[in-house]
Amino acid sequence: MARTEALPETIAGALALGYECSRTPGTPLTSTTAQALLAHVVGRGRAWLFAHSEEPLSPADARRFVDLLERAAAGEPLAHLVGEREFYTLPFTVTPDVLIPRPETESLVDVVLEWVERRDLRAPRIVDVGTGSGAIAVTLAVKLPAAHIAAVEISEPAIRVAQANAARHGVADRVGLVLGSLLDPLAGPFDVIVANLPYINQEEIDALEVGRWEPRVALDGGSDGLRLIAGLLEQAPERLAPGGLLALEIGYDQGPRVVQMCRAAFPGARVTLLPDLAGLDRIVKVETDA
Ligand SMILES: C[S@@+](CC[C@H](N)C(=O)[O-])C[C@H]1O[C@@H](n2cnc3c(N)ncnc32)[C@H](O)[C@@H]1O
Repeated sequence: MARTEALPETIAGALALGYECSRTPGTPLTSTTAQALLAHVVGRGRAWLFAHSEEPLSPADARRFVDLLERAAAGEPLAHLVGEREFYTLPFTVTPDVLIPRPETESLVDVVLEWVERRDLRAPRIVDVGTGSGAIAVTLAVKLPAAHIAAVEISEPAIRVAQANAARHGVADRVGLVLGSLLDPLAGPFDVIVANLPYINQEEIDALEVGRWEPRVALDGGSDGLRLIAGLLEQAPERLAPGGLLALEIGYDQGPRVVQMCRAAFPGARVTLLPDLAGLDRIVKVETDA
């Protein structure tokens, strides 16, 4: 896609250009992504594009669209290009300073919501460790209006994104964002400790596409991928209230090892390994006795 090429003059022309680019062999760009970029540029939904394909596209919008197409073709994630990703049906602001919230993490939110509902806790005390964009903490605050929610994050730029998302969803006064490492800044007790901490083996990160675009601090779990989870398991027993829940997101191949670590940290607790929607081991749930 040379910059000197004629710019599309209509929505139909831009859709055709996006489709053509998506057919380049080996490109990561899909036609759906191209449509999402065009919808973002013109500030409409994707359905609008097809119903208004004869509408003109201004030269400025056409230039912006072509620039975004080029970045998407170079592998930049759609969430970065449009500055947003949906999580649990809520829109979250996303920047290169935070992990892009993943669909598998929605299962972690489900585990917490089901547990709180089953326990019938009116105002559960919850902490989200490694909050990033705030996806987990903000979603829980929206779904559990009486909950007291804290969220810890080690990265200052990330915590600013979480702050923006809490404000965007009207829960800034109910999500206490704290800069710090793991549970260092908070004494508890908490009814729920939930965490999607970095869990990728540090040597693998450079080989992965995510390592190119997402912050290393959000991915790097040390030499075995379990450095942060092990650190949290050292602190969690002191801070989890009796009859509490610890819910952790893990790598698909870390289940047996993390279950073993949780059993050692919480002797006598009920430890369950749960799959994500793709059927891969993804969540370890620890329930302590009341
Ligand atoms: C895998 S990302 C998850 C982000 C978000 N919770 C989500 O599920 O989309 C892990 C987050 O933990 C943060 N983090 C890394 N080390 C940490 C530490 N020692 N204490 C607190 N947060 C940490 C990273 O900056 C990153 O935002």
